[in-house]
Amino acid sequence: MLRQDINELLTRTGPGTAMGELFRQYWMPACLAEELPEDGCPPIRLKLLSERLVAFRDSYGNYGLIDEFCAHRGASLWFGRNEDGGLRCPYHGWKYDTTGQCVEVPSEADNSSFAENVKLTSYPLVKIGDVLWTYMGDPATQPPLPEFEFALTPPEHHYTSKRWQQSNWLQAFEGGIDSSHVTFLHSGGLRSDPLFKGAKGNQYNLNDTKPFFEVADSDGGLFVGARRNAEEGSYYWRITPWVMPSFTMVPPRGDHPIHGHFWIPIDDENCWAYSFDYHPMRPLTEAERQAMVDGHGVHSKNIPGTYRPEANMDNDYLMNREKQRTGEWYSGVEGIAIQDSSLQESMGPIVDRTKERLVPADSGIIKARQKLYRAATALRDKGVTPPGVDPAHHHVRSAAVVLPQKEAFLAAARDDVRVRPGFPISSV
Ligand code: FES
Ligand SMILES: [Fe+2]
Repeated sequence: MLRQDINELLTRTGPGTAMGELFRQYWMPACLAEELPEDGCPPIRLKLLSERLVAFRDSYGNYGLIDEFCAHRGASLWFGRNEDGGLRCPYHGWKYDTTGQCVEVPSEADNSSFAENVKLTSYPLVKIGDVLWTYMGDPATQPPLPEFEFALTPPEHHYTSKRWQQSNWLQAFEGGIDSSHVTFLHSGGLRSDPLFKGAKGNQYNLNDTKPFFEVADSDGGLFVGARRNAEEGSYYWRITPWVMPSFTMVPPRGDHPIHGHFWIPIDDENCWAYSFDYHPMRPLTEAERQAMVDGHGVHSKNIPGTYRPEANMDNDYLMNREKQRTGEWYSGVEGIAIQDSSLQESMGPIVDRTKERLVPADSGIIKARQKLYRAATALRDKGVTPPGVDPAHHHVRSAAVVLPQKEAFLAAARDDVRVRPGFPISSV
């Protein structure tokens, strides 16, 4: 369990909160690049860390992320006209560039300098891979751009999706470092999902329901190791890296692409789950890419034109009791992503952690909360830069390896959990 005041601290990310300031130290996904597909396209509304913003791509291809509301009398700039080099409020015609600078106030005299003194809050927006990244902190401490391997591979090697999750970011993230639920909740997927099935490791995963957890510190966060029995004298280790604040990678299976997530707070009761897949050694096959588009693996099938899953809270996630009974879908919900979101949303928008009863299999979650708490308070009280800000901390991979029983997992797998260009993922 967690004290209520610590639960509050870890879950609230609006401006001025300790965790909100922590998130504002990092580059993080603001939206997918596909949401602003061409120069001069319509702007989009975005809420991030409880701030209401508008993202747009001007007629010259510059990306901008600015306050949603016009400085004149507060109309939403989502209605804005994306005109020559800026976004014009359609109410009285004030125009802003991608830095939030007001460049035109049509009611003023031609020689007026009024517009020069009007500037909206704005944040940088940079395309790397399929994602437009932003940094919402103090410009003076803006770190170098992120270097996560998935985003830096050639476009044919990766795929990224996102879905709206109706829960606080922390309970969503905690699912990402919780390897013990896979044997139960996702057991059907291990047998049948086209992006999971067929790996030797799946048998170890399904045969041992009592994984032993070991957690080790990393520069950017943690490595969470889940150990299961393999053949005589050896263990099957699934190693999940976490880079603060909310990047995780799922341990791989066979030669399938490797995948992971970011959980980004929209506000305190909603988050974006960004899900990526990539293969460092080869392009994704057509069949793999189609399976991702169709919502297999870690991805979801969304309502067309939106990022809301088709199976959601309002339709009980299309629960199928017959498939639950036969075990084809262990919980009766289809698909790995929705199996996760259904249970995480079922906890309520912000789970009451004063009532939980943790067990040793939750040790990764316990350690992660401690690390988040320490980093947020050290930043707040002493201005200490948190782990994961330095892009060198991003160079991690998940791994699924069989090791001799006597080996310490991180010592034996040190090379397997770091990015080594030209080397395949370590996966059984
Ligand atoms: S409210 Fe935007 S120009 Fe008046
Ligand atoms: Fe899961």
